[in-house]
Amino acid sequence: MYRTHTCGELRSSHISKTVTLSGWVQRRRDFGGLSFIDLRDRYGLTQLSFNEQEDASMLQMARGLQREYVVQVTGVVVAREKVNADLATGDVEIKVSNIVVLSQSQTPPFTIEDQSDGGEELRMTYRYLDIRRKPVKEKLLLRHRISTLVRDYLNRQGFVDVETPFLIKSTPEGARDFVVPSRMNQGQFYALPQSPQTFKQLLMIGGMDRYYQIVRCFRDEDLRADRQPEFTQIDCEMAFVEQEDILNTFEGLLAHVLKGVHNQDMAVVPRMTYAETMRDYGNDKPDIRFDMKLKDMRHLVKDAGFVVFDKAELVVGICVDGCANYTRKQLDKLTDWVKRPQIGMTGMIWMKVSDEGSCSSSVNKFFDADALNHWKDAFGAKPGDLILVLAGKEALTRKAMSELRLHMAETLGLRNPAEFAPLWVLDFPLLEWDEESGRYHAMHHPFTSPKPEDMHLIDSDPGAVRANAYDLVLNGNEIGGGSIRNHDRALQARMFDLLGFSPEETEAQFGFLMKAFDFGAPPHGGVAFGFDRLVAIMGGDESIRDYIAFPKNNAGRDVMIDAPSVIDSGTMDELGLNIKG
Ligand code: AMO
Repeated sequence: MYRTHTCGELRSSHISKTVTLSGWVQRRRDFGGLSFIDLRDRYGLTQLSFNEQEDASMLQMARGLQREYVVQVTGVVVAREKVNADLATGDVEIKVSNIVVLSQSQTPPFTIEDQSDGGEELRMTYRYLDIRRKPVKEKLLLRHRISTLVRDYLNRQGFVDVETPFLIKSTPEGARDFVVPSRMNQGQFYALPQSPQTFKQLLMIGGMDRYYQIVRCFRDEDLRADRQPEFTQIDCEMAFVEQEDILNTFEGLLAHVLKGVHNQDMAVVPRMTYAETMRDYGNDKPDIRFDMKLKDMRHLVKDAGFVVFDKAELVVGICVDGCANYTRKQLDKLTDWVKRPQIGMTGMIWMKVSDEGSCSSSVNKFFDADALNHWKDAFGAKPGDLILVLAGKEALTRKAMSELRLHMAETLGLRNPAEFAPLWVLDFPLLEWDEESGRYHAMHHPFTSPKPEDMHLIDSDPGAVRANAYDLVLNGNEIGGGSIRNHDRALQARMFDLLGFSPEETEAQFGFLMKAFDFGAPPHGGVAFGFDRLVAIMGGDESIRDYIAFPKNNAGRDVMIDAPSVIDSGTMDELGLNIKG
């Protein structure tokens, strides 16, 4: 038997028991005739003690143990002289009477403690060592806990877990496909699923009624903190449902997770339309933990002779509570911030409301006290508040203001990671105009149904048609999205037509789905959550990388196994990939 207890288990109640533990040597501290070792396993740390006067040979053995050796020790649990309140096992230590070295270790390339000295690249190269560290381990344990809660909830709601294939044909979700060459069908390729979208719809046509899968998806797109080329979805689909049924079911899922992880009760999730989020926050995934709404100021700044405002498509502002005491230097810094290429503005205008309620601004020359008072009223600004204004091209300015809003909130500590503010965003546009290709793209995906009440616009003004599509946003992150689908062949064909697919292309790519619609397709809809994002936000982070056991770096590489890598010429031949000159 390797162990009687784990390294996280022993308490005062175990005092005087003889126990055996196995684990890694985290750290050894030597003082004269005394040595202490912190022994680590998944469950925690336990202090081992060695005393020359009691057992000189044991002390000598202990001093041969280096960091990360794997050892088995046996000894008696005793009370510690100095209790360590930071440690669950901090009341006790083990007087060791036997040591077996199970495995030796080279000196690790970075310290394996809560705070590590290892840089990102090094820690990723030795990810298995990084996983021994408590902060990383805890994140993986949280992921497991949340997946268990998700399964609990969905199983209880009658969802059936069905696996769908990975070697498929392209499913359009807006990214590039990863492809796999077929040896048996040379010159042909499978695509890895960007999502199981078409399969879950086919399962509804197959009568499964409620499906879920915690499933890997693959998307060849530029990476960001909240994006990985392979990531995990909680993918769900339901038959005989309307949007309302879906919103209710999955609000319940989020509530169950929040209760299970943080013991917080979730209130009813507020809802906004896409148009409202764009107007009030400048983006479709607003962080509503704080207010600071955008206000369109065009009507307030008309005809003042200030050329920046006069030639702008949009003039928009936010009111930042209590920041009128910002110094010139702080305001200049903010101006520099909006002028960075990532934000792309040419400048920033500000107005302060003094403690006495009078207004002054960086554009006093053009706006007198009366005019500035109108600004103040429009924002409902109080004495001590600061109004920040951006002006320029519509889309760019809206986006910049949305970024500035988040930046101010971050600076002012308004984005509390322990607070969870979900939001449903509804009524997305069905289509999105793409300048580059000069045609419409599906904003969600091509299987999303239009709102029946907007159908009359489908020929005259397709861009104005809204979709039965919804996103779940949590703390300013899109954690899920879904829609009610087309289940009618003619409507689906119309969609492909709008998206610029010829009937032949539609048949070649989606004939299997269109045909299935001919055999009794129930009305259906669903949603998919970004599982990595959900877990990261529950853990108080926005970057998903540490919540994935073996993630890819920003260049899409796994630096530990060194992938992707070249394959030998023979394999290339077998796959028909060697281009012979
Ligand atoms: P969508 O494309 O919105 O919808 O994806 C659903 C959710 O998956 C997460 N996500 C990602 N997470 C990490 N890395 C990525 N590269 C990445 N891309 C997306 C997001 C997103 O909200 N089939 C539809 C769902 C449906 O209609 O039912 C779909 O995949 O959190």
